[in-house]
Amino acid sequence: MQYFFIAGSNRGLSFAEIQTLFAGQYGTDKIEIDTFKDVLLIKFKSAAPSDSDMKIWFDRLGGVVKFGRIVEDQDKFLEETADKFNNAETGSIRFGISFHGKLDRVEDPFGGIKKLSKKVKKYLKSHGVKSGYTLPQKGSSELSSAQIFNNSLTEDGFELVLISQQNSDKLLAGVTLGVQNIEDFSFRDFKKPAVDTVMGMLPLKLARIMVNLADVEPGETIWDPFCGSGTVLMEALHLGYNVLGSDFNNSAVVNSKTNIEWMGEHYALDDSRYRVFDFDISDPDGKIVTELKHTTISAVVCEPYMGPPQKTVIPNDEAEEQARKFGFLIENLFDLLENLRQETLKVVLVVPSYKTRNGWVNVSLNSVISSNWNIVSSDYIWDLQWSRKNSIIKRNIMVLELDK
Ligand SMILES: C[S@@+](CC[C@H](N)C(=O)[O-])C[C@H]1O[C@@H](n2cnc3c(N)ncnc32)[C@H](O)[C@@H]1O
Repeated sequence: MQYFFIAGSNRGLSFAEIQTLFAGQYGTDKIEIDTFKDVLLIKFKSAAPSDSDMKIWFDRLGGVVKFGRIVEDQDKFLEETADKFNNAETGSIRFGISFHGKLDRVEDPFGGIKKLSKKVKKYLKSHGVKSGYTLPQKGSSELSSAQIFNNSLTEDGFELVLISQQNSDKLLAGVTLGVQNIEDFSFRDFKKPAVDTVMGMLPLKLARIMVNLADVEPGETIWDPFCGSGTVLMEALHLGYNVLGSDFNNSAVVNSKTNIEWMGEHYALDDSRYRVFDFDISDPDGKIVTELKHTTISAVVCEPYMGPPQKTVIPNDEAEEQARKFGFLIENLFDLLENLRQETLKVVLVVPSYKTRNGWVNVSLNSVISSNWNIVSSDYIWDLQWSRKNSIIKRNIMVLELDK
């Protein structure tokens, strides 16, 4: 059984998130992963999970646009689809077709989709099923999530996904089983009561990806020591973790608390527990450190302070100074974490690169972190980076593990 996943705009991160989740659940040796362009394919070597289990895993992901099952026999798939809707007496059904992967061979994907849609419609009609199709926006080769969602293609119709592969002329076909619930992400993003427009906030989907990269079991505890308005805490609670949040700025602590309480009103947080408190990483309070030593923490997930918000490209010396200050903060963080003497500890953190007129200024972690830390993120074959076109700051995502 093979499933496909379509990555969001920061592909490397999306791929790493999927690989971490499934390798964690099923074991690295039980799955085979292949990627090309925006597509990731997972093959289960032995018994595959059911479609509904896959949907549960998919709903945990932050960086994936949609997923579905690869259809081994395309003719049989169309036949079965016709049978399904013929018996269901649904009147007219709606479907759509998207192309993904390496498309160079398809000269006019949009025209190709239109032609193919007509053919499928005709086929369905000849099997007694009335249908209408939704086409991608002109010039595009894929339906948008909104089109799939608004036409309820995954529930009341279907989306057929055609995937071209790296080293093969054969098109793979798949049927979409789930689309990212953008409305739910937007709800948390825009309706949460406390925001910090000055400090800035971690993008919600990135927070979700980072929590998934920590790869810890639900019910375990995640700490964000730079919690700001609590984006990481909200996503971690949503996924069933217990959370600790701290910040040296009391209004950030209050903001996090407000947002977490709001989460509790709108989402079932089950038995997840939280605690937020004032704490300065560079001047740690001894009593709190003792308490943290007696708390089992599985992972630290955070975006440390990256300097004052940047609106334009900054001069080189300013960027160098920012990178130096960031390195200093990280040195304090990792010294403290080693001192907590946890059994095992994962750290997922944002490390910035600053854009200057002379190019990018990076922070070098190796010079500030002791050799007791293993850099897990370098095991991924993809680049774990979050940025947008024309970004003046790049977020590199690092995953580290305390090597005992
Ligand atoms: C980039 S923000 C974190 C954003 C947060 N993830 C969110 O989405 O709201 C960095 C936070 O680090 C806090 N901070 C800076 N220096 C600190 C220190 N030495 N100890 C603890 N918190 C600190 C700031 O108050 C700020 O809230």
